[in-house]
Amino acid sequence: MKKIKDHYFHKAKREGYVARSAYKLEEIDKKHRIIQNGNLVLDLGCFPGSWLQYTSRKVGLKGQVFGVDLQAVNLSLPANVKVLQADIFELTAKDLEMNGGMVDVILSDMAPKTTGIRGTDALRSYALNQQVLQLADDLLRTQGTLLVKAFQGAPLEELRREFSNSFAQVKLCKPKSSRSESVEIFILGLAKK
Ligand SMILES: C[S@@+](CC[C@H](N)C(=O)[O-])C[C@H]1O[C@@H](n2cnc3c(N)ncnc32)[C@H](O)[C@@H]1O
Repeated sequence: MKKIKDHYFHKAKREGYVARSAYKLEEIDKKHRIIQNGNLVLDLGCFPGSWLQYTSRKVGLKGQVFGVDLQAVNLSLPANVKVLQADIFELTAKDLEMNGGMVDVILSDMAPKTTGIRGTDALRSYALNQQVLQLADDLLRTQGTLLVKAFQGAPLEELRREFSNSFAQVKLCKPKSSRSESVEIFILGLAKK
């Protein structure tokens, strides 16, 4: 994959983020106020950890962040962050129970291993998001928020419809810090029904 050392790359280095992706979450959060002080947040596909860094600051000492990724996160993180190395397809709601309760926010920046074949990649991303919706069904509290990365392409409309069944408001977000040539787009579900 082409890595361009752009404005956000240098900004991330300066500000101590392990990845430039932090700014995508920051932009969406600034616009839609999705993460509040004291929240319990689940971050699916959290490696290398920039969303964990951003979220742990936002939830503060009374909040908690639980990250999951296939890869081990080798980052020193604040005490309000826990990380589990796992495949989300093998997780049950029980593995993810935070403080025995329901979470306020679920974030997923997960991407499948891409093949370069657009249709195949979009379908794999869709399958990941189906699993995220399933987990949200079990773990996200009523009125909670779900943000997922999706790929533009055929299954996007279907995913949007599924979000509308579960959330009072659904928004598509393409942050400025997401490269314009990238097919990624974020779907935000607000106020779980
Ligand atoms: C773009 S990265 C996430 C970047 C992260 N948000 C950050 O800011 O540092 C996508 C991650 O999704 C993870 N992932 C993909 N499929 C997964 C699965 N089935 N279970 C858990 N993690 C998965 C990958 O291992 C990868 O680390």
